[in-house]
Amino acid sequence: MKIETAETAGFCFGVQRAVDTVKEFCGKCDKVYTYGPVVHNEDVVRELSDMGISVIDSEDGLDSLQEGECIVIRAHGVPEATVEKMRSSGADVVDATCPFVAKIHKTVVRESSEGRKVIIVGRKEHPEVIGIMGWCPGECSVIADIDEAGDYIRKNLENKGFPTTIVAQTTYNHEKFQDIVELFKKNSYNVKAVDTVCGATRERQSEAGELAGRVQAMIVIGGRNSSNSAKLYEICKERCEKTLFISSASELDPELLKGAEHIGITAGASTPKQIIEEVIENVRRTDI
Ligand code: F3S
Repeated sequence: MKIETAETAGFCFGVQRAVDTVKEFCGKCDKVYTYGPVVHNEDVVRELSDMGISVIDSEDGLDSLQEGECIVIRAHGVPEATVEKMRSSGADVVDATCPFVAKIHKTVVRESSEGRKVIIVGRKEHPEVIGIMGWCPGECSVIADIDEAGDYIRKNLENKGFPTTIVAQTTYNHEKFQDIVELFKKNSYNVKAVDTVCGATRERQSEAGELAGRVQAMIVIGGRNSSNSAKLYEICKERCEKTLFISSASELDPELLKGAEHIGITAGASTPKQIIEEVIENVRRTDI
């Protein structure tokens, strides 16, 4: 059996940076909090909790922050109002927003301030999208996919000449983002697209798709709440019928790999290396 692991599997630059930042501040202030789990991965969250780092899950939770404590903004970023609320608590605010996400915040501030409407292509309930919306001073809409783009186009026909800027959630599928932009253009909407799909995501997605096209079974490792992992699964499943989505090595059912001589493995941006190695080890064992 041949096992091939994608080079881009696992933590991306932004997530690694956020995890390192949280660890770096541990011991430097009275208490370290992260605003939401720093990655969608229970093992990492547990490791940080063992180091004394706690998670604040809601805006209300920010009220209990004290001077001398630190609150770390994770890679997804947060709305401007949330940053202000953190600052007003007196705690130190450590901003580990991924620079690529911070760049989208700047883009929507600029475009919106110039009087343009903003459309974000992504999941409206995703923290990154909530954060981007929270930086946009003017009109801002979120569309999830090409169907919602079609609905938007039909419902806003009288505004199609209005200057509009389209950005994407960083983990959105690159091709699907282009298709949505094309649909707006085909319908004569006055749109300017700023392709904010992250290069790391794009590379991970194209490597996963390419690998899935060459193997007999594909394993995608990622958290259940991780949208970039869910997208990887979708891409791999299109090219390899036998694609499994697991969040840890213990979820791997060896029966499902039976008969596969070439197995591909990739992992979402919030999957630590250690879990990838455990999965590889388990796959190897199924070959004995
Ligand atoms: Fe940043 Fe891209 Fe990761 S936007 S958080 S490096 S997926």
